[in-house]
Amino acid sequence: MARCCFYAVGTLSLLLLVTSVTLLVARVFQKAVDQTIEKNIVLRNGSETFDSWKKPPLPVYSQFYFFNVTNPEEILRGEIPRLEEVGPYTYREIRDKAEIQFGDNGTTISAVSNKTYVFVRDQSVGDARTDLIRTVNIPAVTAMEWAHQGFTQMLIRALLKAYQQNFFVTHTVHDLLWGYKDELLALIHPFKPDISPSFGLYYGRNGSNDGDYVFLTGEDNYLNFSKIVEWNGKTSLDWWATDKCNMINGTDGDTFHPLITKDETLYVFPSDFCRSLYITFSNFESVQGLPAFRFKVPEEILANTSDNAGFCTPAGNCLGSGVLNVSVCKNGAPIILSFPHFYQADEKFVSAIEGMHPNKEYHETFVDINPLTGIILRAAKRFQVNVYVRKLDGFIETGDVRTMVFPVMHVNESVLIDKETASRLKSVVNTTLIVTNIPYIVMALGVFFGLIFTWLACRGQGSMDEGTADERAPLIRT
Ligand SMILES: *[C@@H]1O[C@H](CO)[C@@H](O)[C@H](O)[C@H]1NC(C)=O
Ligand SMILES: *[C@@H]1O[C@H](CO)[C@@H](O)[C@H](O)[C@H]1NC(C)=O
Ligand SMILES: *[C@@H]1O[C@H](CO)[C@@H](O)[C@H](O)[C@H]1NC(C)=O
Ligand SMILES: *[C@@H]1O[C@H](CO)[C@@H](O)[C@H](O)[C@H]1NC(C)=O
Ligand SMILES: *[C@@H]1O[C@H](CO)[C@@H](O)[C@H](O)[C@H]1NC(C)=O
Ligand SMILES: *[C@@H]1O[C@H](CO)[C@@H](O)[C@H](O)[C@H]1NC(C)=O
Ligand SMILES: *[C@@H]1O[C@H](CO)[C@@H](O)[C@H](O)[C@H]1NC(C)=O
Ligand SMILES: *[C@@H]1O[C@H](CO)[C@@H](O)[C@H](O)[C@H]1NC(C)=O
Ligand SMILES: *[C@@H]1O[C@H](CO)[C@@H](O)[C@H](O)[C@H]1NC(C)=O
Ligand SMILES: *[C@@H]1O[C@H](CO)[C@@H](O)[C@H](O)[C@H]1NC(C)=O
Repeated sequence: MARCCFYAVGTLSLLLLVTSVTLLVARVFQKAVDQTIEKNIVLRNGSETFDSWKKPPLPVYSQFYFFNVTNPEEILRGEIPRLEEVGPYTYREIRDKAEIQFGDNGTTISAVSNKTYVFVRDQSVGDARTDLIRTVNIPAVTAMEWAHQGFTQMLIRALLKAYQQNFFVTHTVHDLLWGYKDELLALIHPFKPDISPSFGLYYGRNGSNDGDYVFLTGEDNYLNFSKIVEWNGKTSLDWWATDKCNMINGTDGDTFHPLITKDETLYVFPSDFCRSLYITFSNFESVQGLPAFRFKVPEEILANTSDNAGFCTPAGNCLGSGVLNVSVCKNGAPIILSFPHFYQADEKFVSAIEGMHPNKEYHETFVDINPLTGIILRAAKRFQVNVYVRKLDGFIETGDVRTMVFPVMHVNESVLIDKETASRLKSVVNTTLIVTNIPYIVMALGVFFGLIFTWLACRGQGSMDEGTADERAPLIRT
């Protein structure tokens, strides 16, 4: 009886240990979990993933910071601009995908992403409709650049004079963002109908969308989840000099595929940036108790490297590290994008302006992704809109202004997972954690029985004779 028990314990222990090692080596539970995740995180009509893709439940806030010009006369005399940052002016973004259509047996999906912006007064420094900002007269500067490129220079010079357009204008935050009727543009509009008579940095973007997208649903391969295949009917851009630069890579940045690894390069195409970007792993984070990988836009994205030479327009005309000339996708307006306060840009841009304080914590762009599900837990997309200004002969409005990249505003588009969604996600993460740890539980049991076996063996050896005599005795008696 005891001997039988003794061997049973030994065999059980061995079996459990072998089983656990086999499970670990074959990664049976890990694979099962991965497969379940891969099958579930797909854009399929009715799935939870589809619903939260269609109408993202987490609130996104866009916070705008404007640079108020304090010394306009001095700037036109050739002095350094002194700018004063005012903000945030916070808008809640309500996102909504519309015109959804599945194609190709559910492997693609087309949609537009409508965004509505609602002002949030109690998270802003002032009222966007009354606060005034003095900044560069972007329509006038744009018209001068057009003229410089041959477009009816005489006409524009006359118009500028007739309407007493100055180099600087003062408008409310609301108008600068969402549009005001500009006299100059209104006069140009009949000649160039594609030029809108209104101007605003986010003009026409409220309640509207940034174009038609075709995404992959992830049905064929989880790595393709929400990857863009077409934007406005095209599979690549045509603004830049090389095919690589013109590629539309990755997702729109609102979703990522599940089972993210540290070594990956994740591509995103933010249409307002006019080009694809990528983000790379930086460090581990914890957001509302959930594990996250922090991915960041690396410095190389806007660096003056041979990889980025294709983004210098016209070809060969690179402005330096940390800036991107997007004139070519903004109707010829001399708009230059950068990170806020010229973070990660050449020192010459920072020192050309008084009031720039680049800072990693406040000015970098990052995404905290839950690696298992690919869900964004926290993110901040930050960039700055600048105008290229210079003295133009023939336009007295430009005075003796220095040639420089002039900051107008920067924006922080951020999102943070709420407690309720986080706790729901946590239960999913914990369940998978338990399932993937089953082999270790089996192994622990094996070790436990192994210890009992050893203990039995040792005890048996020490008292072998006594024990056997004792055990035999009652058997004989009965
Ligand atoms: C999803 O299914 C519902 C109900 O079956 C249907 O009304 C809807 O049109 C479908 N949506 C798409 C995008 O196919
Ligand atoms: C859809 O699937 C069917 C059968 O699997 C196939 O014959 C057909 O070519 C597929 N259509 C597309 C557009 O992929
Ligand atoms: C955007 O449009 C919505 C509804 O059309 C409106 O309620 C909201 O005030 C608008 N936002 C701005 C900033 O004009
Ligand atoms: C910006 O500067 C102008 C001119 O100095 C001033 O009138 C305005 O109040 C300033 N705006 C803010 C928001 O401080
Ligand atoms: C989405 O935006 C387009 C304009 O870009 C508009 O015509 C359409 O009605 C909007 N759809 C929704 C659901 O808001
Ligand atoms: C989808 O994923 C597979 C495997 O990674 C890849 O070969 C294929 O090209 C992807 N499809 C597209 C359209 O990117
Ligand atoms: C797009 O991705 C390819 C690799 O898939 C890369 O070589 C190319 O540089 C990327 N383009 C941009 C603009 O990020
Ligand atoms: C920006 O790009 C446009 C379009 O290619 C070009 O005309 C302009 O000269 C560029 N601006 C600068 C400052 O290089
Ligand atoms: C960009 O880099 C090239 C070579 O590395 C250098 O010759 C050029 O001066 C740089 N341009 C700027 C604007 O820094
Ligand atoms: C967004 O970034 C700005 C700095 O650019 C910072 O002041 C602000 O607190 C950030 N907002 C959120 C919600 O993180």
